[in-house]
Amino acid sequence: MSIVQAALKKAIALAPDSWIPGGSPDPLIRERHGHVGQPVSRIDGPLKVAGKARFAAEFPIEGLTYAALHYSSVAKGRIVEIRTSEAEQAPGVVLVMTHRNAPSLAKAPAFGTNPKAAGGDDLAIMQDDRIHWNGQAVALVLAETQEQADHAQSLIRVDYEVDAASTSFEQAIADGTEPGQFMGEPLKLRIGDADALFATAPAKVDATYRTPGHNHNPIELHAATLAWSGDELRVHDASQAVTHAAWTLSQIFGIKEEQVHVTSPFVGGGFGSKTLWHHQILGAAAARLAKRPVRIVLSREGVFRTVGGRAPTEQRVALGARRDGTFDAIIHTGVTAMTPHNAMTEPFIIATRSLYAAKSFRLEVDTVKLNTVANTFMRAPGEAVGTFALESAIDELAAEIGMDPIELRIRNEPERDPTQGLPFSQRGIVAAWRAGAERFEWYKRQQRPRSVRDGDWLVGLGCATATYPYYRMPGGAARITVTRDGRAIVAVAAHEMGMGTATAQTQVIADRLGLSMDQVKFHYGDTSLPGIVLAGGSQQTASVGAGVVAAHRALVAEMLKLAGNDSPLAGLHPSEVGGFDGGLCALDDHDRRESYASILARAQRTEISVEAEASMPLEMQHWSMHSHAAMFCEARVNEVTGEVRISRFLGSFDCGRILNPKTAASQFRGGIIMGLGLALMEETQLDERTGRIMNPSLAEYHVPVHLDVPAIDVIWTDEADPRTPMGARGVGEIGITGVGAAVANAVFNATGKRVRDLPITLDKLL
Ligand code: MOS
Repeated sequence: MSIVQAALKKAIALAPDSWIPGGSPDPLIRERHGHVGQPVSRIDGPLKVAGKARFAAEFPIEGLTYAALHYSSVAKGRIVEIRTSEAEQAPGVVLVMTHRNAPSLAKAPAFGTNPKAAGGDDLAIMQDDRIHWNGQAVALVLAETQEQADHAQSLIRVDYEVDAASTSFEQAIADGTEPGQFMGEPLKLRIGDADALFATAPAKVDATYRTPGHNHNPIELHAATLAWSGDELRVHDASQAVTHAAWTLSQIFGIKEEQVHVTSPFVGGGFGSKTLWHHQILGAAAARLAKRPVRIVLSREGVFRTVGGRAPTEQRVALGARRDGTFDAIIHTGVTAMTPHNAMTEPFIIATRSLYAAKSFRLEVDTVKLNTVANTFMRAPGEAVGTFALESAIDELAAEIGMDPIELRIRNEPERDPTQGLPFSQRGIVAAWRAGAERFEWYKRQQRPRSVRDGDWLVGLGCATATYPYYRMPGGAARITVTRDGRAIVAVAAHEMGMGTATAQTQVIADRLGLSMDQVKFHYGDTSLPGIVLAGGSQQTASVGAGVVAAHRALVAEMLKLAGNDSPLAGLHPSEVGGFDGGLCALDDHDRRESYASILARAQRTEISVEAEASMPLEMQHWSMHSHAAMFCEARVNEVTGEVRISRFLGSFDCGRILNPKTAASQFRGGIIMGLGLALMEETQLDERTGRIMNPSLAEYHVPVHLDVPAIDVIWTDEADPRTPMGARGVGEIGITGVGAAVANAVFNATGKRVRDLPITLDKLL
């Protein structure tokens, strides 16, 4: 028995459906077990540092060609003439593909229009002469080397007939808005008469907050290596949605879903952007036309031109309160942008639906359409920018009534979900606030702004609530195979984008099965495996966990059947046994046990394999389920230059059971760092005359670098959520939320200047 197994106090029973009312919690959350909760290092770490982890653009294929794209330089209109002969004659060129010779393709089903749709937009790609945005790919060159392809695309000349385009967010708002929707639901909520209660409230704030567009910049560029064999398409992709990508490609190319095999074993960051964009589709089309395999790696500029990001927002938050701070009215409305060809509305009111109690609410997101690349999901779409507005406004109200901003928040802590009326599954935000305030020494904060100075630097403290919902989407499934040597292979079409999925799931599975980590292999990132699992919405852990629970149930039932009457387990019901020390044992008598190896040997089986689907995700209908964090920031603002330095940051999280403190802390810190970028730097510069992104590189589009980031402290409550598989809620997206406001509030405390439009650049502080 290994040391870790010795630490197991008892066998772990089958997980009941804790997410159904009346069901009891997953046994993994009731007490601490061997691997769950341990700071296990990422199991893919050694492969990565040795350079042996193959990413999408690193798969060798015989006869490979390399692709380069030529982008439209106008926002709307049509191609009058496209001159490709020079490119065609350039050295090494295999193919120049434009709308004139591209194979016939169906429209891409856009994300959200079907459970398996992965398209960033719903355009028919390279099928006609129409231009939809400045940066759209109008030609693809294939050549024997990347350099030859890059050179050849530079020789292409296009004449456009230009139509008037909508490329100014402000102008579009002036021209009129339309109601927004998110996942088919209207983004509109009214409870009571918020306008009337706001009008008569004795204390109030009413302010407008603005956030700019953001572009995705994962370290790994979007890339795919693609090859056809007859009507079968093989895609080595960088994807957070392999099953979705395969189905969507099958629709576009008019083939069967099984004819598309997508794998994505390693992804160098996704954040919502590693779905299906034009490059994979064009790469597949070109491979078909040229009858050669294709590698397409977007340049950094190419990612800016053809992969969507976060849309700009203009938000009004109006809070009406009593003198004691309790809220009469919360009004959070505003506008965001989308395009005529996508379905993603940045849902910035979602956090406001559940954070605070109030007598009345009016929440509403309206939209305008811009002729730009389709916007998409970007780490905490909605909450990242919505909490900037809401949590800035809370800070403004606290200043207005002279109350500590933490106290104001706790005073408005709801008993139940304030807009849905549902009980919370677990909510420890007050505990997170208290623990964080103590650790950050919040008592040192001066309520009066501009009170603390260190030479030329003004120093301030700010805080904000962070939050992100628990989601679990339908489609979770898993296959568990146990082999004669007592090892288990668990297979799910899930994704490892660097966040620790494979590691955390291996920990959970080892504990459930009573195995050590090296006896468990977690297979993922492959459409031949079970499940429709999206690494998005911070829901992958729950989705995989629920699939594993279902497969584990089936496995135990099968194992008991196989064990038969000659086993010490004979006569036991599946609910009476658990995984323990390489086999099954009776929950109430650990001496009654048999190893998996022994059961399989006696049954003369080399292995046993079961597959099952996760239960329907009904838990969100019964409980209001959200993660929270209290974010604390110390900002230093140079009085002479306006420069902002973040000198301290603490995130105090309440995200259910933390399965792996090492990988979770990394997610929290990564989210906070991205939040610092949102607060201080990130901004897509759109030339409103042409709709062209003017800063399409990491030299001009700024993200935090090491010197911008202090040592970030993270702590957590680690209180299990009894209504989720494993007691965990997602940890991927929450870290970015609340950070914008925590920084803005710290800057206000330092300087007395309230910056309501992000990013907080030095010109706004002079
Ligand atoms: Mo996340 S924006 O759902 O990858």
